[in-house]
Amino acid sequence: MSIVTCIAPVNIAVIKYWGKRDEQLILPVNDSISASLDTDQLCAKTTIMASADFDADRIWLNGREESINNPRLQNCLREIKKRAQLSPEMENWKLHICSKNNFPTAAGLASSAAGYACLSAALAKLYRVEGDISSIARCGSGSACRSVYGGFVRWYAGTDPNGNDSIAKQIVPASHWPEMRILILVVNEERKKTSSAIGMKNGVLTSELLKYRAEHCVPKRVEEMNQAIMTKNFEKFAQLMMKDSNQMHAVCLDTSPPCFYLNDVSFGVIDLIHAYNEASNRVKVGYTNDAGPNTVLYLLEKDVPEVLGLLDYYFPSKPVDNVEYKRGNPPASA
Ligand code: DP6
Repeated sequence: MSIVTCIAPVNIAVIKYWGKRDEQLILPVNDSISASLDTDQLCAKTTIMASADFDADRIWLNGREESINNPRLQNCLREIKKRAQLSPEMENWKLHICSKNNFPTAAGLASSAAGYACLSAALAKLYRVEGDISSIARCGSGSACRSVYGGFVRWYAGTDPNGNDSIAKQIVPASHWPEMRILILVVNEERKKTSSAIGMKNGVLTSELLKYRAEHCVPKRVEEMNQAIMTKNFEKFAQLMMKDSNQMHAVCLDTSPPCFYLNDVSFGVIDLIHAYNEASNRVKVGYTNDAGPNTVLYLLEKDVPEVLGLLDYYFPSKPVDNVEYKRGNPPASA
């Protein structure tokens, strides 16, 4: 029996992927950029056992058996086998795949991204496939291709109808910007109502703003973001990120039927961050939201204690009677 184990990080997009130009191949309408989190914090871990003695391929996610016929999973298996030089032994293998996340699934924390990146890395190791595997991870979930690398990563939308140029590349390793910190505010651990796949599919079909964003906004923004990362310009970085996140959610509203991912707490955090930055006379914190209410903050290490204090004051984990944050009020303590 052959056994391999891999881990892969969660990534949080700072320029969002929202919309596919090809649903089948999972090709995006625009480039996107993300940061991969340290794997000691939030990650997926996948172990694959391969043996000719197993009766069938099987998969367990977080301890529960799931269908091996999931089309996205099958896409990854097919792609890896296409790239592998299959020995007679490998031809007879059946796989037992066990994957675990150490964070809530489908809560807008890109669990599928880490999961499919990890699955692809483990399959590549098992079948001895070398070279870039981001296009294999992409076949499982678009954003997964960015979790194949650490640090800041860019997913190039590409123009090839077959998707050969739709791959992820590292912009810089995490060591380039060691002061950067990410705070994940878990507002709600429930599953989202509209999956990102459905939300973006409806968006491509019905939102003019999505088309405008992909053609006229993101191409310039993605270059500016690349530059802000290279030069470690935090203020520029945070401003671009907030604008892009809000635009993605504006596209969601412009979609028919509209999809809503943010809730009152997410809006409250957004208001608070703007008020805090304004009171500080500089952009100290940036926020971004994926397809869920959880808000992710990017900030520099030196500002973490103050921001944690601020969040604790306005959004205490347990309700406190005499502390109430009213949307629109600037924080008194900033
Ligand atoms: C809002 O990668 O989950 O997180 O390709 O359909 O699996 P599929 O979508 P998915 O979409 C993620 C969208 C996002 C933004 C981002 O990560 O860039």
